[in-house]
Amino acid sequence: MTILTGKARLAGITGWPVGHSRSPRLHGFWLDRYGIDGAYVPLPIEPGHFPEAVRGLVRAGFAGVNCTIPHKVAAFAVCDAVDETAHRAGAVNTLVFRDGRITGSNTDGWGFLENLRANGVDPGATPALILGAGGAARAIGAALLGLGVDVTLANRTRAHADALARDLPGLHVIDWEQRGAALSGHGLLVHTTSLGMAGNPPLQIDLDRAPPGMTVVDIVYVPLETPLLAAARARGLRGVDGLGMLLHQAVPGFRAWFNAEPVVDDALRRFVAADLLPA
Ligand code: ATR
Repeated sequence: MTILTGKARLAGITGWPVGHSRSPRLHGFWLDRYGIDGAYVPLPIEPGHFPEAVRGLVRAGFAGVNCTIPHKVAAFAVCDAVDETAHRAGAVNTLVFRDGRITGSNTDGWGFLENLRANGVDPGATPALILGAGGAARAIGAALLGLGVDVTLANRTRAHADALARDLPGLHVIDWEQRGAALSGHGLLVHTTSLGMAGNPPLQIDLDRAPPGMTVVDIVYVPLETPLLAAARARGLRGVDGLGMLLHQAVPGFRAWFNAEPVVDDALRRFVAADLLPA
């Protein structure tokens, strides 16, 4: 049983809805592991109330919060300062409250890169092909471009990809129909759409042109083994699932709020994965 003192440090996840979030389980594991006097709680906040709710959390003494759908852009607007990654992504997933000031960062791209490195993949080593043009694609694209990687992106709605390219100089855009043909010449494929998620149809892509040695990353993590990852592995390609990115993106927030350096390891992964049964 966790007993908090009057000095407990407080953080949480803002979202609407937030009931599906695995972040309380993930941070709860670390709080328990490191014996920290602190709590990380779900904070369901309706979209229109986000700014006033965050100001209330600052006044209530919270150390900070994570922000998930639909608050990542609104979170950017409440910040007194944002870091470079948040600025490039135009969205914030981690808020730190200190001396009444709100600082925002976006750790999604960092978590993506860290997870690749933890899987023995150098994210800067090869041209990358990203599928999708939502918030995750934006953060990942910005992170890869920041490493100097040659990044190409395909999205069902071409206009969304073109809009992203205007914000991310250097990003090449191709048509969605070209996604299979474009595989050759890329050592990294990153799938960021909701296809393949439990309840959704799978991504259709012909992996015939995938070069040997390609790493295929799917940011979907319910299920952990998506049809795309299964197809990639069946061809002898390296598959990286979406859970690792979720675990790694949580590190900077935990460090800032609870003054401890959390480690992403197999025990954490097993603990969070145990809760990932498809709905
Ligand atoms: P997130 O912020 O998690 O990345 P999002 O902003 O909702 O999520 O982005 C969803 C992505 O999945 C978009 O790239 C979307 O493509 P469109 O821009 O054309 O909408 C993509 N997506 C969703 N359903 C899709 C489908 N059936 N086929 C192809 N792409 C799909």
